[in-house]
Amino acid sequence: MPKTSAQKLLAKQANVLTHATQCAVVFAANDQLFNSATALDQRLEGVLAAAIDSGDLKPKAGMMRWFPTPASAALPCKRVLLVHLGNFEDKSKRHISSGNLRAAFHSVAKALSKSPAKTATIYLNELFSENDVSITHGATNLEIDDQVWAGQEFATTLVKELYHYCETKSKKPDPVALTTLVWATEASAGTNALRQALNLGSAIGAGINLARELGDLPPNICTPTYLAKLAVQLGATSPKLNARSLSQKQMEKMGMGALISVAKGSSEEAKLIIMEYKGNKAANSKPHVLVGKGITFDTGGISLKPGANMDEMKYDMCGAASVFGTIKALIEMDANLHVVGLVAAAENMPNGNASKPGDVVTSMSGQTIEILNTDAEGRLVLCDTLTYAERYKPKTVVDIATLTGACVVALGNHASALYSNHQPLADALLSAGNNSGDRAWQMPLWDDYQKQLHSNFADMANIGGMPGGSITAACFLSRFAKKYHWAHLDIAGVAWKSGAAKGATGRPVSLLVTYLLNT
Ligand code: BES
Ligand code: MN
Ligand code: ZN
Repeated sequence: MPKTSAQKLLAKQANVLTHATQCAVVFAANDQLFNSATALDQRLEGVLAAAIDSGDLKPKAGMMRWFPTPASAALPCKRVLLVHLGNFEDKSKRHISSGNLRAAFHSVAKALSKSPAKTATIYLNELFSENDVSITHGATNLEIDDQVWAGQEFATTLVKELYHYCETKSKKPDPVALTTLVWATEASAGTNALRQALNLGSAIGAGINLARELGDLPPNICTPTYLAKLAVQLGATSPKLNARSLSQKQMEKMGMGALISVAKGSSEEAKLIIMEYKGNKAANSKPHVLVGKGITFDTGGISLKPGANMDEMKYDMCGAASVFGTIKALIEMDANLHVVGLVAAAENMPNGNASKPGDVVTSMSGQTIEILNTDAEGRLVLCDTLTYAERYKPKTVVDIATLTGACVVALGNHASALYSNHQPLADALLSAGNNSGDRAWQMPLWDDYQKQLHSNFADMANIGGMPGGSITAACFLSRFAKKYHWAHLDIAGVAWKSGAAKGATGRPVSLLVTYLLNT
């Protein structure tokens, strides 16, 4: 199982002129240094202000410069990292965008992960206490304290930056020097809230990194059986998590004909993985259920995919990975919640036993399905898992799936597509997306689209034709989610990046954790 990072994140009252650290991270915005930067600058003969005045440090969020501190300055920090937050959103200098802060945090995290500094301290508190500046989040307002938001966001960003895929590389990356990160506070009041924010942020980061690692692992390693074992290993790390899995035989007996129809073309056995997390004070409450699509490789089956970029179909288990990541984050933060994670894990392959176009199968719900395209396999494994979820009498069910290429056409690589049969649930997920910067965009689930799933030979077909492909896939799932409040996230466009920086993103772990914590 991937390791979680060993760095300590602390919130502490600290003054830049007396607090010992190997690296003081100070800030500027517009054409001005913040107070901590100014205090240092007086001992550094004005080099910080000069960097801004000369234009060497450009007024753009995330631009930064290192300054070694000479012994003559008698400062408690070995070096200074001066970071620009860019320009404020308005002339009154009271609003700074969350995007600017995110860009700055990303730069700082990157710099610290490469620096020889073992300790570092962030002096951003004055942005919130003295200047009365508030953070703007696009068109939405957050009901979160600004500094708490910033601390949590920074912690997540830092932990994410420490992820490097190396499982199947013979050369391991250089170890990170940083061991302790301090978020300076001005008064002891508020330190507790900040400490909590840092913990929460780093727990979310650890969850994101687990999801990334599982996505990035090659499909000959990350099989349904591997995931089932991993769940048990995760369960061994916390008494609050109970993990087990159903075998393909057991699923057959339960009548999961749709799920089995996908697995039977592969020599890898399918698994239904069940992870039940029960936090303190949550044991008797009804659970929130998360359902993840875990196709560990999607060849398309007999409706075989074209060869180009087919390797990326190892990422077809990223919905499942986000369920693992979310559970991991809940464990790390010791959340007081009741959450059940269900993962439908199978491999979609075209062997002699595989499903064929025209086959009709019976789902666990009793509804029959004509498989017109074996590449529309995600909805087949999910529909039986959605039926299985009924036994938990769930408060809500959210499924997460790299379900359709059409979703990427509709929304590109920035937003997950959100569908729901219950608007308050949709609203909660949308707002969690905005708060965490891991955004979703709601799509219609109108009856008009359901007609496209008509079949002459079964209760429904598994495809709805070209128009609105992400929507008709959601319509298919909705037929199996009638007994509870349900939402579906199509994450096909956001779960991984292609090209030179190919890799899993860990989305939508932050959206999911933020949503669960707000319920
Ligand atoms: N896993 C794919 C969806 C996918 C494709 C996600 C490319 C990201 C990038 C899914 O199983 C699939 O193949 N869907 C088909 C559905 C079609 C046959 C109705 C698709 O999108 O082409
Ligand atoms: Mn497919
Ligand atoms: Zn798929």
